[in-house]
Amino acid sequence: MSLRYVTTNEGKVDEALEYLDGDVRQFDYDYTEIQADDLETVAAAGAREAFRAVGEPDTAVLVDDAGLFIEGFDGFPGPYSSYVEETLGVDQVGRLAREAGATRAYFRCVLAYCDGESFAATPEPVDRERRGQDLAADERAVAVTDDTVAEGTLPVKLFVGSVPGRIVEPRGDGGFGYDPVFEHDGQTLAEMSAAEKNAISHRGRALAKFADWYADR
Ligand code: IMP
Repeated sequence: MSLRYVTTNEGKVDEALEYLDGDVRQFDYDYTEIQADDLETVAAAGAREAFRAVGEPDTAVLVDDAGLFIEGFDGFPGPYSSYVEETLGVDQVGRLAREAGATRAYFRCVLAYCDGESFAATPEPVDRERRGQDLAADERAVAVTDDTVAEGTLPVKLFVGSVPGRIVEPRGDGGFGYDPVFEHDGQTLAEMSAAEKNAISHRGRALAKFADWYADR
């Protein structure tokens, strides 16, 4: 079974390679980001579409969907992070959050895996750091997998990672997106090296969980 990371962003494949012992290649494919109010639904739909599109035997796909969740704003922009980045802009989102005193936030990433086969009924991976706060989302993750098996469509397995932090004035030149306004442990993600960010990031944490599970698949 070969594994393809579905993204137009080569940098994400480099991140994934660190967790997967070189066992993954890019599938440069722009899947449809359906409109939904949770990352799980978007990622799962993307994985099904990409699996059909890749069209190679013995090939699995991995899709990710991520966003910034500002706690005092009920998780906004969350699944709408790309749209809000393009329209309002990162600096403006940061300014609004700081002015409202709503600086507690987290990044969250959902990885969706599809290889055309179903999965044994093992406990779903749960992001323990966010247990309680994100429980509803984790329960939804389970529901996506189970529902689709029942419907007879392509089964998808989901892995969630998150990183807590707070919204600050922009600092640093690295990374991308909301990194300059998101501080974790005294540094914005844009001030970290790629390796430092990868070690603590929402995507890194989801990839670590996926890599553990995939090693036995
Ligand atoms: P995507 O899921 O990678 O397309 O990201 C969705 C949105 O969240 C985009 O606006 C990204 O800029 C933002 N985003 C996702 N991951 C990160 C990150 O690691 N740092 C900063 N912004 C991110």
